[in-house]
Amino acid sequence: MLRLRLTGYAVAQLFLSIVMIVLFVLWVVGGALVVVWVGLVILAGVVPTTRWIANLHRTMAADTLEVTLPSPYRPLPPEGFFAQARTVLADPMTWRDLLWLLVAPFVGITVSLVVIILLLGVVTGFIWWFVTPPLMQARARFDRMLLCYSRTEKLEQRVQELTETRADLVDHSAAELRRLERDLHDGAQARLVALSMSLGMAEAAFDTEDPEQARQLVRDARATTSAAIGDLRSVVRGIHPPVLADRGLAGAVAALALDMAIPVTVDARLPGRPPAPVESAVYFGVAECLANLGKHSGARNGWITLRWHDGLLQAVVGDDGRGGADPGAGTGMLGVMRRLAAFDGTLSVSSPAGGPTIITLEVPCDLSSPKTTPSSGPA
Ligand SMILES: Nc1ncnc2c1ncn2[C@@H]1O[C@H](COP(=O)(O)OP(=O)(O)O)[C@@H](O)[C@H]1O
Ligand SMILES: [Mg+2]
Repeated sequence: MLRLRLTGYAVAQLFLSIVMIVLFVLWVVGGALVVVWVGLVILAGVVPTTRWIANLHRTMAADTLEVTLPSPYRPLPPEGFFAQARTVLADPMTWRDLLWLLVAPFVGITVSLVVIILLLGVVTGFIWWFVTPPLMQARARFDRMLLCYSRTEKLEQRVQELTETRADLVDHSAAELRRLERDLHDGAQARLVALSMSLGMAEAAFDTEDPEQARQLVRDARATTSAAIGDLRSVVRGIHPPVLADRGLAGAVAALALDMAIPVTVDARLPGRPPAPVESAVYFGVAECLANLGKHSGARNGWITLRWHDGLLQAVVGDDGRGGADPGAGTGMLGVMRRLAAFDGTLSVSSPAGGPTIITLEVPCDLSSPKTTPSSGPA
């Protein structure tokens, strides 16, 4: 059974080798004709076909070697021909596919022919029995070597990613500090200066025996004090919203939804609490999405779901508005992306023209204390 299946692969690979030679020629022709646009059309067909054939070989290699080989391509942006083309060109696997396309047919045709011819003779059938598994395994290893990243390469990519997100995190923290500094400087500090001036003038008014004016100045001072307290509160809220500490992520998100002008339903099922920094990041992310919903979507209904499954916290914010949300068009969602990236999290957008808009925030994390948070109905 095993040997017959491997022989089946050998036959398939023999035919695919011929297709691959044609594909390689088309790559070269397409590449040469890019300057006159026809090449782009050819490449637009050749690239997906190459990936399809390479994936077929990955599947066969995975089966032969009894391992799993995940697809190594970088995820394509959902739309935009040129955006997709850029991703394909920047993906090193595209070029490894191309190299493989050049070498693999020779290896493939040789191995496949040996296996197939051996099967046909009576005496050689005996040899076929012993030779097929190691030959096909060697072929599979060859494919894996070119078509899949090795452990070292994967680790290198990971280090690269971590270096970038760490730099982002440092930038982000510095920006946060600057924002806090500005908030304190423009808000509470300015008010305290005014307060001190009012009190100084009131003191002078007492000395000149003008109690009415002194009283007025003290009244002003009290009003300024309340404003300063309000400013300080909002700064504190910006650091770690008290509602988050009191009611957890689900409760805090429900409170955000309640503040919206249109009905936003919240369906939260979290079997525990995420770590505090993750909670804050997701909370501010959802807050930004809701602000966008109110500002840009023109929606009549919104919905939020919060889930945790297999170590992945997922928040989805959806609306039935006009669609067309584009992180590249503003700063809000990009900020959320950077903030989430610090935790290996992502923000993805699905927002075709005409809607609906669905923003998905995902962060890998563990939950603490297995206690259920309540889920609230329509808000
Ligand atoms: N829910 C939504 N529905 C429709 N358009 C949206 C939605 N969210 C965002 N957008 C669009 O995407 C752009 C980028 O949003 P964002 O990154 O938050 O930047 P900002 O809100 O600062 O403009 C917005 O300017 C808006 O045009
Ligand atoms: Mg915004």
